[in-house]
Amino acid sequence: MILVKHKKQFGAILQKIREEKRSLGFVPTMGALHAGHISLIDQAHKETGFTVCSIFVNPAQFNNPEDLLKYPITIEEDIKKLEKSGCDLLFLPEKDEMYPAGQLPVHYDLGDLENILEGKFRPDHFQGVCRIVDKLLTAVMPDTMYLGRKDYQQCLVIKRMMDVRGFETKLSICDTVREHDGLAMSSRNMRLNPDERILATKIIESLMIIKDNIVPGDLRAIKEKATAHLESRGFKTDYIEIADAETLSAENTWNGKKKIVALAAAYLNDIRLIDNVVLYT
Ligand code: PAF
Repeated sequence: MILVKHKKQFGAILQKIREEKRSLGFVPTMGALHAGHISLIDQAHKETGFTVCSIFVNPAQFNNPEDLLKYPITIEEDIKKLEKSGCDLLFLPEKDEMYPAGQLPVHYDLGDLENILEGKFRPDHFQGVCRIVDKLLTAVMPDTMYLGRKDYQQCLVIKRMMDVRGFETKLSICDTVREHDGLAMSSRNMRLNPDERILATKIIESLMIIKDNIVPGDLRAIKEKATAHLESRGFKTDYIEIADAETLSAENTWNGKKKIVALAAAYLNDIRLIDNVVLYT
């Protein structure tokens, strides 16, 4: 696996890949890699001729400085995992490489998506995500970028940013990878103590209450039931919402046909977990 720390190193590498007519698959990450990330690498490896992973803990997307300080960093283990996987190149930039001093932040028009759900509870988070993904795409120039559906809203926001910026990269959204008991894999799970780890499954349980019981008509009672399930186990819920699968606008009634998704974000002590379940087949 090639290790690259500077954007300018990509020029020669990309030229060689293009000459060899190989396609490039890209998996952006913030490290603390788990089986969910590796499944994205596997997918990229299967579908493209050269797989790039980036690890960069992006300060611009942390609205809460405490959260940034607590973000798990496991770079040596990450490199070992990537070496065992089909990853051909790891891009591991320093902060100054991605955010040179004096550079003014670009502002992206993300429409309503920016201010609802995650956007409401994490102001400026999605601007920060878009800033880094824009810079990464510009450096890596992939044919396909692979993202996990666990960050459902992030996938839609990045798609919008890519459309606005005119990127031709294809976006491949891959299924959420779960632990044996249903908990969605996440780097933040590393911070759960054993008791919290057991309780953490309540988040998917509450979404499954919606999935298993939803019927056309008024949705408010089912949202309340799911929220109560989570809060009775000590979670502090930011939201449990049922939303249009494409715009994420909240739905209080359902005609049984519209594509919808149930999304949850909640704190277990100081650890914020998110998950979602798509409610159409
Ligand atoms: O999902 C993540 O890990 C991050 O938000 C991303 C897409 C790598 C941007 O920093």
